[in-house]
Amino acid sequence: MQVLVLHGPNLNLLGTREPEVYGTLTLDQINVRLDAFAAERDLQLRMVQSNHEGVLIDAIHDARTWADGIVINPGGLTHTSIALRDAIAGVELPTIEVHLSNVYAREPFRHTSLISPVCRGVIGGLGWIGYRLALEALLDS
Ligand code: DQA
Repeated sequence: MQVLVLHGPNLNLLGTREPEVYGTLTLDQINVRLDAFAAERDLQLRMVQSNHEGVLIDAIHDARTWADGIVINPGGLTHTSIALRDAIAGVELPTIEVHLSNVYAREPFRHTSLISPVCRGVIGGLGWIGYRLALEALLDS
């Protein structure tokens, strides 16, 4: 199984970005943990991080040609991007939305996701383990 793991805007700053909210692991450290999990499960991952909506959308379109599923943390685009939602809906790959923080325990503008309705499931508030659980869910589907 091959999975695209997409990290949206500002997630490149993990480790130093609001550590009380997002933890102290860097994005590289999270990706290494996910690769270790994947190696145990005959899973191949491609990780992409971008601060640019169009790059994320292009990666989703490209995933049509090779991926069996997508795990995405859309960052702040969760709450604003119709285009990202349309891309996920358009490729019809099983997609799991992940958030490191519990967005429902935070500011009201984070309580709405434009992405969730086109995802198979949503995981939030569990830190990096949320990504691993998302991969488990795709493996199980
Ligand atoms: C986030 C939550 C979003 O509201 C925020 O804009 C992020 C990170 C999370 O992982 O908790 O950038 O997606």
